[in-house]
Amino acid sequence: MKLNKTLITLCISLLFLDTHAQQGFSSSLGKVKLTFTLDKSGSPLYEVAYGNKTIIAPSRLGFALDTDSLFYTSFQLLGTDKNSFDQTWQTVWGETKDIRNHYEELTVHLQSQKAPGYLLNIVFRVFEDGVGFRYDFPLQPKLKYFIVTDELTQFNLTGNNKAFWIPGDFDTNEYLYTTSLISEIDNRKLVATSTDIAVRVAPDPFAVQTPLMMKTPDGLYINIHEAALVNYSAMQLHVNQKNYSLTASLVPDAYGNKAYLHAPFKTPWRTIIVSDKAEEILSSKLILNLNEPSKLSNTSWIKPMKFTGVWWEMQTGKSSWSYSDYPDSLGKDGQLIPHGHHGANTANVKRYIDFAAANNIQGVLVEGWNTGWEDWFGNWKEKVFDYTKPYPDFDIVEITRYAASKNVSLIMHNETSGSASDYERQMDTAFRFMNLFGYKSVKTGYVGRIIPRGEHHDGQWMIDHYLRVAQKAAEHQIMLDSHEPVRPTGLQRTWPNWMASEAGRGNEYNAFSIGSPPEHETILPFTRLMGGPMDYTPGIFKMKGYNVNVPDRQMHTTLCKQLALYVTLYSPLQMVADLPENYETHKDAFQFIRDVTTDWEDTRILGAEPGDYIYIARKEKGSPKWFVGAITDENSRKADLSLSFLDKGTKYLATIYRDSPQADWKDNPESYIIEQFVVDNDTRLKIDLAKGGGTAISIFPASEKDIKTIKKYRNLL
Ligand code: NOJ
Ligand code: CA
Repeated sequence: MKLNKTLITLCISLLFLDTHAQQGFSSSLGKVKLTFTLDKSGSPLYEVAYGNKTIIAPSRLGFALDTDSLFYTSFQLLGTDKNSFDQTWQTVWGETKDIRNHYEELTVHLQSQKAPGYLLNIVFRVFEDGVGFRYDFPLQPKLKYFIVTDELTQFNLTGNNKAFWIPGDFDTNEYLYTTSLISEIDNRKLVATSTDIAVRVAPDPFAVQTPLMMKTPDGLYINIHEAALVNYSAMQLHVNQKNYSLTASLVPDAYGNKAYLHAPFKTPWRTIIVSDKAEEILSSKLILNLNEPSKLSNTSWIKPMKFTGVWWEMQTGKSSWSYSDYPDSLGKDGQLIPHGHHGANTANVKRYIDFAAANNIQGVLVEGWNTGWEDWFGNWKEKVFDYTKPYPDFDIVEITRYAASKNVSLIMHNETSGSASDYERQMDTAFRFMNLFGYKSVKTGYVGRIIPRGEHHDGQWMIDHYLRVAQKAAEHQIMLDSHEPVRPTGLQRTWPNWMASEAGRGNEYNAFSIGSPPEHETILPFTRLMGGPMDYTPGIFKMKGYNVNVPDRQMHTTLCKQLALYVTLYSPLQMVADLPENYETHKDAFQFIRDVTTDWEDTRILGAEPGDYIYIARKEKGSPKWFVGAITDENSRKADLSLSFLDKGTKYLATIYRDSPQADWKDNPESYIIEQFVVDNDTRLKIDLAKGGGTAISIFPASEKDIKTIKKYRNLL
């Protein structure tokens, strides 16, 4: 009798499950449409369309948890909420002064039908340029703390898209981008063919990192990344080459676990930006909008700036980070860099301070100033550096006095060589030391394997670490530029003192490796920079023969392209990276760097195609000055730059720094022409970019004299 009753209940519930109709909800804004479905088995799915094209086919949502390995099925819908939002907020610094945050929100409340009935919400925000969604584990009686063993989110692409990708390395983003079809992604091929020092065997041959930039066969641009990566590990994507499905693959910890969570908890947002125009991918503010507003009420101490530094001379082997006769890791074949070549000595630092003060450069970075560089690299040692102990030839008191007298701000350098645990112990002292000596910013570094051992640069422990450093820095009113951290996810909105990071393959690779081909900088804004500014270190003027140990090493751009990078690669901390003496030989071109700013009122993407070219115009904050940068890949091309963004009725003086007709990145990179014209908002500049070249243009309101004496630009047909 009892058994019968159980059987009957089971049959009824099976019947119920079986007839459980699929439930669907949608939300749209402009051309973007999001559809959520709970299918018959109780599995949540989402789908994204742009106009009449599906760009993400129905795709799985959910997890494998330690407490429920099938936390992606057998859900029941408890309800949905809808919400609309449209507000404009102001940036502390950035590419634009104002940002409109406009979205439709759909929240679905789910409960697992399996005992003990865990709760899960999924929040979707639909913007005019894409979709963001996140998982929200609400406070609940049964699911209190748990381990994510896998996130199972999928992005089912609808075709064999072209992709710009780097391998799923858990510790570095410092790779060249490969452009291939989704069906061709395979990290093993890279390892087999590349001579690049950065290339290593990735744990999953089919995993790639985000931001992943793609172009569909019918010409739509899609970018997948994440926003607000906090207390979770970074998302990579496992690629199924056959059905073009991408599955989230989180960076594991030392145990292989992906994240340790306590409810209530909200995961980072998964972001899908889409447009039929490449320019709109670059102007998207979706990732910033998905981050929380600033947590800092007083931000008056946060000041974007250009900076120079005792740095390129070490990268190129002219001087050393270390004080004593120990070989630096970058010396050729372990060759000794002779004593007396320590870069961070007082006289040399003063030289850079003078150079900065004379050239409208606000900051000076000094690397190799503190003890530890004799044996810092690749030794996996817990304690390497001391962040308060200068080398004997670095007179910090005198340098501080001298910098202050010249109104130059010093930038501290804290390389951790991956020992984050030691930095955690020392950082409070390190920040107090910076305050004591008037340093207003710090560049951190995480070269090498992470300590705590077994952790990865992009795993949950380190994600927490980078943010702890940013928060601690904020307490001390210090601006932060982190090297070798996880790639950014828009957290600069919430912590505007975390201004820049490297997290990608910077210009330095042209010093110590085979370098990066001319297309590299045309891909970076579509990939690495989607989440935030990059400390790329532009501005190299000596294009060949700069590396003392490898004389035939050369840059992969023209000089004018280095200028253009100040506009096309955004950073509020922007380096003037070359040696002062190398700017002396091109003083006329250097004027552009002296003039250009790092904080913008407005930005217009004038033209872009990933891997090919990028043309951008930006207006200085609180000023009528505009700056234009246009860059190309290995192909020469004519940039067509309409100046319709200028104020109607105003005449401007345009100073154009362009590649000469004889220039090209390989054989004649330092050949350029500087011309001036009077322009207005009807002007359409047509400028030839050399192979690997670019142009930089400053556009200032013209004086009466300019209007009388300088010729007007004649539009060509
Ligand atoms: C790598 C960084 O990217 C570079 O800028 C720095 O000079 C070295 N690490 C040493 O910290
Ligand atoms: Ca680096």
